[in-house]
Amino acid sequence: MLLGEVFLRIRRADERDLPALASIFAASAEDLLRRYRSGDEDLLPVNADAAVPVYRHLNDTGAVFVAEDPEPVAFSAAVVREGVWFLSQLWVLPERQGKGIGSALLDETLSWGHGASAFTVVSSPHPGAQTLYLRRSMFPLWSQVDLLGDAGDAGEMPDGLAPLSDADQPWIDEIDREVRGAARPVDHAFWRGSATGMVFHRDGGAGGYVYVWPPGGWSSKPKSKIGPGAVVDPRDMPNLLAAALQLAGGEVTLAVPSTNWSALNELVRLGFRPSATNTFMASRALPDGSRYLSSGGSLA
Ligand SMILES: CC(C)(COP(=O)(O)OP(=O)(O)OC[C@H]1O[C@@H](n2cnc3c(N)ncnc32)[C@H](O)[C@@H]1OP(=O)(O)O)[C@@H](O)C(=O)NCCC(=O)NCCS
Repeated sequence: MLLGEVFLRIRRADERDLPALASIFAASAEDLLRRYRSGDEDLLPVNADAAVPVYRHLNDTGAVFVAEDPEPVAFSAAVVREGVWFLSQLWVLPERQGKGIGSALLDETLSWGHGASAFTVVSSPHPGAQTLYLRRSMFPLWSQVDLLGDAGDAGEMPDGLAPLSDADQPWIDEIDREVRGAARPVDHAFWRGSATGMVFHRDGGAGGYVYVWPPGGWSSKPKSKIGPGAVVDPRDMPNLLAAALQLAGGEVTLAVPSTNWSALNELVRLGFRPSATNTFMASRALPDGSRYLSSGGSLA
C-alpha cells in the first residue's frame, strides 16, 4: 500500500515478530504517558518484555498485524469471542504517527473481523484514537476508570470463597455473556496461568468470580492488579472486592467501568483514587458494565 511517499506493507505477525512489537509498544506507550497522562510519568520506563506473553496469546487466539516500511513501525491485534470483535492493540511509533498508518492497520484488523456482530475497543486518551473509532461506528458506552490504592486491612475474608476451577467455567461463561457480551474461556485459561482466580456461590448457585494478580505488568513500579471480575447480584460487589483486596495486599490497581457504581463507591470509601481514564466504545450497546471489573485494555 502506498501511503503518501512511503510504501507500507501490512502482514500477519508471527512468533518471531513479538519482541519487535513489544519495543514499538514501549516507545509508543512512553510517549502516550508523557504527553497525555502526565500524572503517570512515574510508571516509566515501560517494561516491554512483560507484553510478549499477552501478544503470544492474541496471536494464538486472534490476529496480530504488523506494518513495515521495511522495518516494523506499528502493529495491531484483535480477538473475536462469540462474534464480538475486540481491538486489543493499536500502536504506532511516535515519529510515524499522524501519517495514516494507524487508520490502515485498523481497517485491516476490522476486515479480519468481518461478520462479527459487534466491534469494541478500550480507547486511550490519545486525541487521534477516539476519532479513529467514532469514524468506524464505535461509540462510547462508558469510561473505564483506573483506580489506585492500598489494599490495607480489607476486613474479614467473606465466607464461601473458593479457588476457581475448570468446573466453574460454564457458569462463568454465562456471567461473561451478560457483563462483557461474550463468553471467553480461552482468555480465562490464559489468566489462570498467571493470576489467582476465586469464585463464590450464592444460595447454591453462581455468585461471582475475580482474578488477583501478583505485582507485575509493564510499569517500572509493579503493582498488584484485580480483574477481571463479575457478580450476578450487584450487592455482592463489595464482598468480592474485599476478598480480592485481601488476597492482593499492598498497592493495587483496578480498571472499573464508570457504570459500576457499587465498585466505585466501595473503592473510594477505602481510599482508592482514579489515576487515569480510558473509554469503552462499541458498535452496539451490549454488556452490563455495572456488575463488572475489567481485566484492563488488552482483553477488556
Ligand atoms: C492512536 C494511533 C494508533 C493513531 O495512529 P496514527 O497513525 O497516528 O493515526 P492516523 O495517521 O491514521 O490518523 C487518524 C486520525 O487521527 C488524527 N490524529 C492522529 N494523531 C493525532 C494527534 N496527535 N492529535 C490530533 N489528531 C490526531 C489524524 O489527524 C487523523 O485524522 P484526519 O484523517 O482527519 O487527519 C497512534 O497515534 C498511536 O499509536 N498512539 C499512541 C497509542 C494509542 O493511544 N493507541 C490507541 C490505543 S486504543
